Amino acid sequence: MEIIHISAECYPVAKAGGLGDVVGALPKYQCKAGDIAKVIMPMYRTQFLYENDWQVDFKGSANLGNWYFEFTIIKEATNKLGFDLFLVDINGLLDRQKIYGYEDDAERFTAFQIAVVSWISSWEHSPDIVHCHDHHTALIPFMMQHCYAFQHLAAIPTVLTIHNAQYQGWMGWDKSLYIPRWDLWKRGLLDWAGNINPLAAGIKCAGKVTTVSTSYKDELRVKANGLENLFEFEKGKCEGILNGIDTQIWNPATDPYIQFGFTYRSVATGKAKNKKVLCDQFGLDINLPLFVFIGRMVGEKAADLLPDAIKTAIYYGNKNACFLVLGSGELLVEQAFQQMIGDYPGVFNASIGYNEALSHQMYAGADFLLMPSRVEPCGLNQLYAMRYGTIPVVRRTGGLKDTVVDMGDIDGFGIQFNEASISDINYSIGRGISVFQDKVHLAWMRKFMMQIDHSWEQTVDKYKTVYKSLQ
Ligand code: ADP
Ligand code: GLC
Repeated sequence: MEIIHISAECYPVAKAGGLGDVVGALPKYQCKAGDIAKVIMPMYRTQFLYENDWQVDFKGSANLGNWYFEFTIIKEATNKLGFDLFLVDINGLLDRQKIYGYEDDAERFTAFQIAVVSWISSWEHSPDIVHCHDHHTALIPFMMQHCYAFQHLAAIPTVLTIHNAQYQGWMGWDKSLYIPRWDLWKRGLLDWAGNINPLAAGIKCAGKVTTVSTSYKDELRVKANGLENLFEFEKGKCEGILNGIDTQIWNPATDPYIQFGFTYRSVATGKAKNKKVLCDQFGLDINLPLFVFIGRMVGEKAADLLPDAIKTAIYYGNKNACFLVLGSGELLVEQAFQQMIGDYPGVFNASIGYNEALSHQMYAGADFLLMPSRVEPCGLNQLYAMRYGTIPVVRRTGGLKDTVVDMGDIDGFGIQFNEASISDINYSIGRGISVFQDKVHLAWMRKFMMQIDHSWEQTVDKYKTVYKSLQ
């Protein structure tokens, strides 16, 4: 089967979060399983672009409304990632440092999608599946079916994977001209609540919709940032497939980003050495249990609760635990953490920004990973933490609910709580501190969770079944 993944992110080319990890891994494992999976994404100005060899695959031109643009599609020359990787270069629009966050993101990603569909429509054969990821690529099923220039692609099956339904790519109807001449009778497919809603259009037009965990699929019918009724209506075509992790990259025995490699057999000493690296670097007390947070400091992750939750834990616990956070996002949250660095030396520190290497060292050296997420479609952090013997402390939602078993349950190895609230977070930190004293239980939990198999090998078959259902 030939599968074309279309995405805004793909690790290690460009990553802002878990979407990048998934699109960097799923195609690789699909190729290993015998299919031909390819990835096409925007050409940003990232290090990966400059450090690798490229060949021109296609040159074309198109219109975005009244704006005529030319694009070039380049292909990575050596199959370095284990699958064919294509980048779309649109001068002045995509070739920037960051992936998202520009005022003209609607223009950038609409032009990207037009270029991708033009490229596919230039082929002499058809791919077996067009697999779109999130709203940045979700107009593609509509374009393939209802734009006059592309209607010869209408029979190609499409799948939309929803990694995050909070972001939907809304744009005003004044931008409808951007979409290449389309059948105006199909206006209803683009519209949701008076705007063009690319994610909604993708859900309506794709042959199948997958979400990155089963619980998230069910939650979307009651909480989906305005799309609840659509998820209820389209539930028949939705399926939850839990993400895997790339166990080649996320392997504590061989991970080049961590100072001391270890396996489940050597977890106690391996962790102690890696914890020392962190504690030395950030001036933390190595004898205390170390709780870390890694991620985007946004409302979805409930990062706004953490400064007060951590202060409360430090105050009431009389400094019986230490905390380290890594991430960036909302300014107020970043500032609150910056302020705390000076206020709580020895028990708190923070690194504001994106740091791939440090994140690995933190999964390896921490005792606990905090994830109080309000919304978590799958969550990869807890899976990486588990693989590195770090106990996940998570809110019972989405993929966190599906992957973490509370230590009070049979074969439990993590800590779950119900509410994204300071009191629930503190109660859970307290449970963590207690189990940290119980070295036998702690050792068992670490060994047990490190051996849980979340590899992609067992997940690719589930996607294959979805693809086959559309043939
Ligand atoms: P999301 O995609 O919603 O951000 P996930 O849990 O699926 O959440 O994936 C987050 C990914 O991004 C993980 O690989 C995590 O390690 C990484 N990550 C998030 N923030 C940072 C950061 N500041 N520095 C390094 N890696 C980060
Ligand atoms: C999104 C979600 C996250 C998920 C990731 C990869 O960014 O927020 O929960 O793990 O996509 O699917």
